[in-house]
Amino acid sequence: MACFFRRRIAAKLGKTLRHSEEVFIPAVTAVPVMKKQQTADFKLSISTLRVNGILPSSGDIQLQTENLACTLKQDSVVEEISAGRGVINFKVNRKFLAQKLLEPFGKGEDDKFGLNSELFLSLKRGTTLVEYSSPNIAKKFHAGHLRSTVIGNFIANLKQSLGNNVIRMNYLGDWGMQFGLLGAGFGQFGCLEKLKQNPLQHLFEVYVQVNKEAEHSEDIKQAAREFFRQLEQHESQAVSLWKQFREITVREYQRVYQRLGIHFDVYSGESFHQDQAQEVLQQLQSRGLLKTSEKGTGVVDLSLDGDMSNVCTVLRSDGTTLYITRDIAAAINRKEMYNFDEMIYVTDKSQENHFSQLFQILLSMGHSWAQRCRHVSFGLVQGMKTRTGEVVFLEDVLDEARARMLHNMSQSSSKARCALVKLTALPMTLFQDFRGPLQSDYKFDWDQMLQAQGDTGVFLQYTHARLCRSVSRNEGVEAATFDPSLLHEQTSVSILQHLLRYDEVLYQSAQDLQPKHLINFLLKLWLRLFSGARSVLANGMRILGIAPVAKM
Ligand code: ARG
Repeated sequence: MACFFRRRIAAKLGKTLRHSEEVFIPAVTAVPVMKKQQTADFKLSISTLRVNGILPSSGDIQLQTENLACTLKQDSVVEEISAGRGVINFKVNRKFLAQKLLEPFGKGEDDKFGLNSELFLSLKRGTTLVEYSSPNIAKKFHAGHLRSTVIGNFIANLKQSLGNNVIRMNYLGDWGMQFGLLGAGFGQFGCLEKLKQNPLQHLFEVYVQVNKEAEHSEDIKQAAREFFRQLEQHESQAVSLWKQFREITVREYQRVYQRLGIHFDVYSGESFHQDQAQEVLQQLQSRGLLKTSEKGTGVVDLSLDGDMSNVCTVLRSDGTTLYITRDIAAAINRKEMYNFDEMIYVTDKSQENHFSQLFQILLSMGHSWAQRCRHVSFGLVQGMKTRTGEVVFLEDVLDEARARMLHNMSQSSSKARCALVKLTALPMTLFQDFRGPLQSDYKFDWDQMLQAQGDTGVFLQYTHARLCRSVSRNEGVEAATFDPSLLHEQTSVSILQHLLRYDEVLYQSAQDLQPKHLINFLLKLWLRLFSGARSVLANGMRILGIAPVAKM
């Protein structure tokens, strides 16, 4: 594995520069494969050593580079050491390269490839709570929820691969004034039979109708307020109807998530934290953080000068709590329940301010762990439409993706087709936009998404399936005659050199939680192929939430 060589080079540096080898490990990186005949496998950046204070930061950097390159001694593993521009290049023995790199595959440890890297030692392991998807009951499951689902799943898988204990949480929008409307409207427009048959659709319809009605009916508005009041006071009839809405929605979502191969450990929601939200208000009060605004609302002053120029409302003038109040309560409660080491929220970027306020308020309440809470935000998706129009339900997107893929692959065998479309349609459709920073907005385009050629998820699937076929055809032969010294022609060496970067790429993704590093790495993993490469591809795809298929 790559770490064998990195450690070897780091040890050499440690000896020469009289430092512990550990400090050199992050500075030694695999050289990305760009040109066909690339000789260097690893490089050391001299400026990193200057920043770390290992080399003096004054003085000519090129001179330092050349001097150091001359002092380092080659050996049987590190065969060539040469100075580049501000970097030292290392070429390792080709036979060792193949042997060490492919070692885990020979031992049947395919799924561990790259994961034991010492690069991950600096990442704190522990419990990571990832909150994602989080749709709102009776409202649309919009493209933002879809992206949150896929990105959150990626982050959870990645963290888990790197040895963290991961809690996957779905935080439903299951509380608030909309349930007043829904409760009031259900009596008029709802039907229990329809609710059972097609719950998401029916709740949405009722919600749309009652909203329309409320526009010109004071009575409905009054009834909605009354219903919500009953809910907040835990009156049993209202609560029992609300419970029905919630349970039926969760069951339905579970079924749809299953189609995606996505699961949650916990379905929580805003409703869980009403009482705790009241406690939060008291705590804010007793810390002197709760102020009353001119409008009579309860606010927390977040301005630097304490002049109320930047406030966050946590209490309405009618005494009800808000989204943020429930989020403060939810965070504190999660810390108590799960004692997480870090918590990650995944939503679109329109909620950036919300989360930054949330973290600030938690900190001001003395919860220093809020420093280990992160909001991973992503750009907006435009134009996600199905044949029947705008996307309302997650399942519509899934059905559309499946139909389109079936159409595109009408020549493949039917069994393979079903397996493929069942498991992979969704993550694959969102694949394209993960190649860049999550922050950018992007235009959704079905045709582009589902292309089998080019930089798409479908292409990865094809590559993987093709590899599976050639590997199984050659399996017996290969195992018996595998001789690493035969892998010296340039195509093989390039693949090996590319594989050297897998742990670095996971490390990068683990740091900034962006899938682009892993995706671009996988797309470049161009292959003439053999089993080691196939396994890395499959492992990486699984982390992205795409279940690899063997045939298509
Ligand atoms: N339900 C919210 C929405 O659809 C997303 C929830 C995000 N998570 C949170 N803890 N606020 O916009």
